[in-house]
Amino acid sequence: MRVAVTGAGGRLGTALVAALTGSGSIDEVLAWDLPEHDLDDPESAMRLIGRNRPDVAIHAAAWTDVDGCARDPQLAMRRNGTAAGEMAQACATNGTALIAVSTNEVFDGLRTDGRPYGAADLPSPANAYGAAKLAGERLAREAFWATGDDFAAAALMPPGGRSNTVPPLAIVRTAWLFGPPGADFPAKILAAADRARAKNETLDLVSDEFGCPTYAADLAAAITSMVEFVGKKGRNAVGGIHHVTNGGHASRAEWAREVLRLAGVTVPTRDVPLSAWPRPSTPPLWGVLEPTPLPGGPLRDWQAALAEYATIGPRTKEPPR
Ligand SMILES: NC(=O)c1ccc[n+]([C@@H]2O[C@H](COP(=O)([O-])OP(=O)(O)OC[C@H]3O[C@@H](n4cnc5c(N)ncnc54)[C@H](OP(=O)(O)O)[C@@H]3O)[C@@H](O)[C@H]2O)c1
Repeated sequence: MRVAVTGAGGRLGTALVAALTGSGSIDEVLAWDLPEHDLDDPESAMRLIGRNRPDVAIHAAAWTDVDGCARDPQLAMRRNGTAAGEMAQACATNGTALIAVSTNEVFDGLRTDGRPYGAADLPSPANAYGAAKLAGERLAREAFWATGDDFAAAALMPPGGRSNTVPPLAIVRTAWLFGPPGADFPAKILAAADRARAKNETLDLVSDEFGCPTYAADLAAAITSMVEFVGKKGRNAVGGIHHVTNGGHASRAEWAREVLRLAGVTVPTRDVPLSAWPRPSTPPLWGVLEPTPLPGGPLRDWQAALAEYATIGPRTKEPPR
């Protein structure tokens, strides 16, 4: 099998290329990033997919600067919406199965019943990043099956069942990614803790925003299992919407405290609401996804994944005072 990865130099892309390269079922991994693959170029996807005709493409490239997306929703729509549709069109035309990576931010997070968002729940994004990613999901679905807008259905089936001649589209929604090369939430919390300690201040932690911290390496392994499953069971095996996160959920404050604990950093902390932290983009307050069953079983809990990450970065020991 030949598998292409877009955004190959990003947090997830790097982990994906490593996991796919280590898989015995995959013969070749095509790692695409700027400038070869450009979300701003409408021809980019068709050119690359048409030239290489991979069996599976994993579309991990995105403009992930959520505040940038809020400042320029049109550019967000181009990169995270339209470009995802173009990738899907290129894949559908060339017989390539597509795994399109999406986000918990397709949900507004206003749910108050304490239940996680399932794959069959109706998305309703509350910010420009989420709106563009949802547009990307919809355009991808249209490109593959032109089935209309039946987002109540978890499985992406055309009327009358799944066609054997059409390759599958899988949408993998995830949340709160962390992992190499750093510059992630754990790294930001450790840097903020350093600043607070240097100034003898209390570290403010947002306690009313919830999500599922997810280790990029674990997500990459899960997506690799999906690709291997395609190899073993046939292309239609993985179609549909999948929610893939580490197990459990946390508030930003709980996640931050675990990061500090694992790094052995002590600093006085104070819980604050998200509203105390004004920023251009409004994240979902309740961004918790219900994981869908995976070929390789559920991912471990986020605390175990974070503990493993703490042994390699973003920092393993307390900095000098
Ligand atoms: N990070 C999260 O917490 C999170 C949560 C939910 C879902 N997701 C989704 O997961 C996927 C991977 O996210 P990530 O955290 O790995 O993001 P990331 O580290 O920001 O990586 C994004 C990748 O996309 C590339 N890219 C950015 N702008 C591009 C453009 N105009 N043309 C072509 N490539 C471009 C980047 O290249 P450069 O590095 O060269 O800019 C990078 O390789 C995305 O689909 C994202 O929406 C992420």
